[in-house]
Formats: sequence, structure tokens, C-alpha cells
Amino acid sequence: MKALIAAGGHATRLRPITWTRNKHLIPLANKPMLWYVLKKITDAGIMDIIINVNPGEVKYMSENLGDGSEFGAKITYLEQRGGAKGLAHVVANAEEHLKGERFLFFLGDNIILGSINQFVDRFQNEGLDCMIALSHVKDPQRFGVAEFHPDGKLKSTIEKPENPPSPFAVTGIYLFDEKFFDAYKTIQPSSRGEYEITDVITWYINNGTVGHEEITGWWKDTGTPDALIEGNALIMDDTPREEYCVDCQPHEDAQIQGPVAIGEGTVITADCMIRGPVVIGKNCKITSSYIGPYTAIGDGVVIHETEVEHSIIFEGASIDTTRRIVNSLIGVNAQLVDYKRTHPKTGHRLIVGDNSFVEL
Ligand code: DAU
Repeated sequence: MKALIAAGGHATRLRPITWTRNKHLIPLANKPMLWYVLKKITDAGIMDIIINVNPGEVKYMSENLGDGSEFGAKITYLEQRGGAKGLAHVVANAEEHLKGERFLFFLGDNIILGSINQFVDRFQNEGLDCMIALSHVKDPQRFGVAEFHPDGKLKSTIEKPENPPSPFAVTGIYLFDEKFFDAYKTIQPSSRGEYEITDVITWYINNGTVGHEEITGWWKDTGTPDALIEGNALIMDDTPREEYCVDCQPHEDAQIQGPVAIGEGTVITADCMIRGPVVIGKNCKITSSYIGPYTAIGDGVVIHETEVEHSIIFEGASIDTTRRIVNSLIGVNAQLVDYKRTHPKTGHRLIVGDNSFVEL
């Protein structure tokens, strides 16, 4: 089997972070979001993977994610052509790679805890034409939604309905057989002008055998900073304790509690407390600080006299403030300093990029 991952789009609600970084490369527990998708796919034994990327992003994405050898897999990067015309169009764009194949289609901003193996095995062993993963949600109108007949059989799937016929969202993990491209030719753009993946699934319901399974531990990035911070925490909780390794030598008087991973070359001074789950990258310098649960700190970060908790700090950032930093996303090379060091009286001096969010 092959897999296609959707990793294009512009994630405008995550600006300013997504001005300079594709959303799917945002680090969760210090690994790009897509790393977790690649891990799930390769753990399911699918080693031939195509990643759909925005025009002009092939080099950038491949430099960040590699050729798949880390997973024993082969990754082909494919530019999305013809504009953003819906997820079924994203698959159609990959026809040259997927024609005649049974394949997995995975939306790159969907993270699931646990494995997809059972799901893939069922599709193969039962010889299904299509298989979808459903999740019981509170806000189905934000998703593709499954509609059922009174006897419980699938009737259709509908994209973002105003009045959802069930609480079951269609998650971004789909399996299709080679008839996908026949189905695609029969569908028309929806009222929002997109070739909807839910319309292709409805075609399969009417013309073939479609399996569905409820999955738990599904996390859908809603594209907001809060959702990313939540995803970061979920992944830390899902990481087995033995994968938290300390590869440097914190000062012997530093207090390190719970699951904590620290990269090579990082300095942690005596008057620090690190309370896991926490992931700290390489070559950081943490002095006189408290780093609290669910914090991920990228490589080369400097933190001095600060309390940080439940936050994602990107590489190269520098934080030196007596304030407590919580629920925050701090971008690459960003600097946070105490006003006392820059300004004679009380007051805040801010250089804030477009679409930033600052809470003082
Ligand atoms: O996450 C599950 C939901 O994903 C499903 O329930 C919906 O049926 C499905 O349409 C989709 O809805 P979203 O509104 O969440 O789709 P979104 O525009 O966020 O794109 C999903 C992924 O596909 C995301 O990783 C970005 C990528 N993408 C998106 C567009 C618009 C592309 O690769 N190219 C694109 O042109």
C-alpha cells in the first residue's frame, strides 16, 4: 500500500508563526507535527509515502522531514497544482502516484494517540473498498459528519453540515481502493467551491463496501495556538517514560522531577527546577528558572530567572523575565525581557509582528 499525506494550506489562524513555517512543521514535544503522522503510517507497515505540499515548498519540506530513511520508508514530495480546490482534489493531484493502488490518505494536521494498524488491517483483510475513522465529538458541524440509516448502516457523509445528523466526525484518516479516481470524476464542487472528500465517501457508500470504525485518542488541530499547546501536552502524555532521556549533565543540585528529556550540550544550573513532562532540546542554557509540566523547549534556547509552564518555546528563543510565562507559543529567536532591564519606569516596550497576540 501507499500513503498520501496532505501537508499544504496556509493556516492563517496560526499567524505570525505560519508566516515563516508550514503548520505541519510546528514542533510538538520538539518534533514536527508530521513526524508523528509518519511514525503512525510506517508503524502500520506503509513505506511508500507521498506528501502533498504547497507550490514552492518541496525543497523546504524535504529539508525538514528528510527522505523517509529515518523510518525505513521512501517519501516523495508532490507539489499541489491547480490551487486549493478541496481535499478530493488533493488526492486527484496525486493520481500519477496512486492510480491502480489501494492507499491511505492522512490529513497532516490530524494526530492520533495509539495505532492505526487495526484500521489498515481491517481494510485489507476484509477487502473493503473504502474505510473511514469516526470520532464522537461535541462540535460535529466543524467536520465532515457521518449520517446513518435507522439500522445503523452508513448512509452518507456530509461536509460541515449546519444541522449535523450524528455526533460522529469523519476524521482525517481514510483508506480508499483504486476506484477513487472513478468516484472523483462523478463529483461536483460543493457550494463552497471545493471537491469534498465526503462526497467521494458517499459515492463509495452507494457503489461499494465502506467500513467505519470509531477511534479514540484523536486530536484535530483546530489551527489555534491553544490547540497546539494542547496537542503538545497530549503527545507528551502519550510518550512512553523510557523515551524521556537526559543526554546532558544538569548540575547535581538542580531538581529534576517526573518525565524529562534534555538534549546534549544543554546547561541546567543548580538553582533550577524542571518538573515534567518536559522536553528540552540541545545546547540550551537554563539558569535560575522553573520549567513546569507540558513545556517543550527547542534547541539553543536561553531561559534565565523565569518560570515557564505549559508552553512551546521554539528554537533560539531567549527569555529573561521575572514574569511567569504560561500557555504560550514563543517563536524562533524571539526575545522576552523584563521591562526593568530596558526601560527606566514601569511600562512595556513591544515590537510585535502582524497578527501577534500579547497578553500583558
Ligand atoms: O480533520 C478532519 C476534517 O478535515 C474532516 O472532518 C473534514 O471532512 C475534512 O474536509 C477536513 O476539514 P478541515 O476544514 O479541517 O480541512 P483543512 O482545510 O484544515 O485541511 C485539512 C488538511 O489538509 C490540513 O492538514 C491542511 C491540508 N491541506 C488543506 C488544503 C485546503 C492541503 O494539503 N491542501 C489544501 O489545499
